[in-house]
Amino acid sequence: MPLYLSPRIDPTVQSVLDETTLMAQLSDALGSPLGVVLPQQLTGNVAAFRSIFSAHRLSGQIYFAHKANRSSALVRELAATDAGIDVASLAELQHALGAGFVPQRIMATGPKNEEFLWLAARSGITVSADSVGELATLATLVTKWSLPRVRVMARLSGFASTGAQLNSRRSRFGVSAAAASEVFDVIEKHADALDLVGVAFHLDTIGLPEKAVALEGCLVALDECRRRGLRPWSVDIGGGFGVDYLADGTQWEQYTSALTEAVLGRRAPLTWNGHGYGLRAEGGHVRGSLNLYPAHRPLSGPAYLDRLLRTTSPELRRPLGTLLLDNMYELHLEPGRALLDQCGLVLASVLEVRDEANGDTIVRLDCNARDVSLEEHGVLMDPVVVHRTTSAGPGPVGVYLFGNLCLEADLITRRKVFLPSRPRTGDLLAFVNTAGYLMDFSATQALRQPIGRKAALFRNDGAWRWCLDEQYWPVHHRAEAP
Ligand SMILES: Cc1ncc(COP(=O)(O)O)c(C=O)c1O
Repeated sequence: MPLYLSPRIDPTVQSVLDETTLMAQLSDALGSPLGVVLPQQLTGNVAAFRSIFSAHRLSGQIYFAHKANRSSALVRELAATDAGIDVASLAELQHALGAGFVPQRIMATGPKNEEFLWLAARSGITVSADSVGELATLATLVTKWSLPRVRVMARLSGFASTGAQLNSRRSRFGVSAAAASEVFDVIEKHADALDLVGVAFHLDTIGLPEKAVALEGCLVALDECRRRGLRPWSVDIGGGFGVDYLADGTQWEQYTSALTEAVLGRRAPLTWNGHGYGLRAEGGHVRGSLNLYPAHRPLSGPAYLDRLLRTTSPELRRPLGTLLLDNMYELHLEPGRALLDQCGLVLASVLEVRDEANGDTIVRLDCNARDVSLEEHGVLMDPVVVHRTTSAGPGPVGVYLFGNLCLEADLITRRKVFLPSRPRTGDLLAFVNTAGYLMDFSATQALRQPIGRKAALFRNDGAWRWCLDEQYWPVHHRAEAP
């Protein structure tokens, strides 16, 4: 029985996959791997988040977390919407400014060096500060260079709620909520350089209770600001809204149960060298926990935001969305992965298909594990076979996907992947829904192999057209969204 993990594919992405000749031509012309981005998909994703704001009668900004993809086409298309952008490096800030984002729509997050802080202050964007030291450096730069006052957010972490008996996880970033007053002291001290506009958090978790505690902690911190006479007016709840990668939740249940059985030795291995994705057998029992992204995640993206806003604050005892509204606070988000849902795929060409003596079938691809970083990000999802010829190979077939690096560990995924038909040399595998982190976040030039090119696909005059990612500007392609 093949254990499929079929990807969730929306009709627009499906219509791209149906263009098999175009896919083959693109791969032949631009090489393998090839990142394909679909910028026009962003408009709908932004609108879906906006509809949650409207449902809760909240105002605020959606800052796309740029780090999720290096593409210019995606950033330029976003500049044509009403969304903002969250930049986490000097180069990302330069990119955002060059794509048409005005400073009022840009927020800097993450660790920052002096150059990044200087350009942030010089251009007048908002700085989400990670530490007291960063605020002090920023204030010094503003004074030394006679720059205008900089809008700052205070990023907090390590929240605790007596209402929920729950602490949020420890983070490398942000000042402990218990020490928030130290941040406000620094901002008050440098009031001529720093203008506090809000408080922020980003938690690397899917857990709603933890996020509710963090959001509540921000509201408490804003109360303290008001008592001090500071007048911040916004809360930034970061990213982490997530994506549902799989078309069928039952497949996920079946796969994870089968993996447990395989780890216990009760069925043939489902992974290369018996890798357990965090599970191990001890005395006939399974120990450990699955170290994977929850690929089946029905509550994700805008729906996750909606649920969070409907969640009752453990200590303040009212829905978090209502508390924001009653205080007339603006809500800011920094979604990366969720805004890129269905916005791209990676095409990789098949170099070789061979059957090993032990019965395993190997598919060697012209890309490596960093070009499609499913494994690094713990996302288990099948690729789609794009056949060169109309006759598909026999199937189904369970295969291991090898990469093109001279490195034992270079498997695209350590999981045996079940494909409905056996690929042939020259066919393509399309790794769909990979625009968020899985396309180019980790891509390197190891072995002097080039990083894959990127093409933007867009609808115009009733057909799919393409250009190199760096050549895409919304002005050419506004006529027709898919
Ligand atoms: C500060 C900050 N904001 C937003 C994000 C985006 O998170 P996601 O892509 O899970 O929405 C990240 C991701 O690392 C982050 O560090």
